[in-house]
Order: sequence, then structure tokens, then C-alpha cells
Amino acid sequence: MDTAAIIREILTDYALHPRGFHGVVHWARVLENGLKLAEATGANQDVVTLFALFHDSRRVNDGHDWGHGLRGAQLAKRLRGNAFDLDDASFELLFRACEWHTEGESDSDLTVCTCWDADRLDLGRVGIRPDPKYLCTKAARSPAIIEWADKRARREFEPTFVIEGWGIPLDFPGE
Ligand SMILES: [Fe+2]
Ligand SMILES: [Fe+2]
Repeated sequence: MDTAAIIREILTDYALHPRGFHGVVHWARVLENGLKLAEATGANQDVVTLFALFHDSRRVNDGHDWGHGLRGAQLAKRLRGNAFDLDDASFELLFRACEWHTEGESDSDLTVCTCWDADRLDLGRVGIRPDPKYLCTKAARSPAIIEWADKRARREFEPTFVIEGWGIPLDFPGE
């Protein structure tokens, strides 16, 4: 999957600064959280990857921003078959994971749960330590995983592919 091409598409019409609180560096950590969790949960890695890129892609502010999950899901629908391909069943999971990632508490599907946990494990960037009560996979509730992800979130750790793969330099222009 060409995540750099998808990022380029998303950013052509992105309302916030790409390096903001809910921007590309958050997406990159959510992506790595999700792939790490997927090793244990068996989640669909394509869905987890696409969720990381799309779930906050249509935010218009850094607050609660009601409806941003659905807007992100709709953008994924628009780019499907163009920037990426996904079978119907997997796309349904991606859409649901994006749409309900703020309100959803738990889901019967482990891939959806893995997406939500990947996002919640990054709460440390706003000073909130993930509470196992709000994590829906056993893998994410592991103290070692919480510690690993929380440390990275708090330090605003940036995966190297943000600059090297996605082409978002530190002084990337916003808006
Ligand atoms: Fe969100
Ligand atoms: Fe998020």
C-alpha cells in the first residue's frame, strides 16, 4: 500500500496544520501502535493502516469536533479504488472504525477494536495515560504495551517515515 500517496491526497484538502496535535505525527504513531497490536490480535493490517491515516483526516478543529470520524470515513470511501484498494468486507470495517472511533466503546470485531486501541494508546500526547478500562483488546491492556506507547506519545516520538517516506519536513507549510 502506498501510504505516501494517500497522505498526499489527504493533505491536498486538510483543514488543520499537518503537524498539529491530531496531524500526521499522531497518524504515524497510531499506525505503529496498530501494527504492533495486530501482531497479537491478528487484526487486518491494511484496515489498521488505513484507519491510522483516515480517522482524523477530516478534522476541522482540535477539540471534540463532532462528526469528524464519519467525515474521515467518507473521504476513505471517495479515495477507495483510486489511492488504495480494499475488499468490501474489509472496507466495511474501516468505515465503521473511522465513523465510531470517538464514541465507540467496544466492537464485536477485533480489527475495529485494534484500530480504536491504537488511537487511544496515543493519548499521552495530551497528557492522558490510557486507562485499560477504555481499551477493548487484551493486547492493548498489557501494562508493557501501555508503557511503550504512552512514553512515545508523551515525548511526541516521530517515526522516521514521516519525513523520509511521507515527505513532511519539520517546516512543512500548513493550511
Ligand atoms: Fe479522532
Ligand atoms: Fe486520533
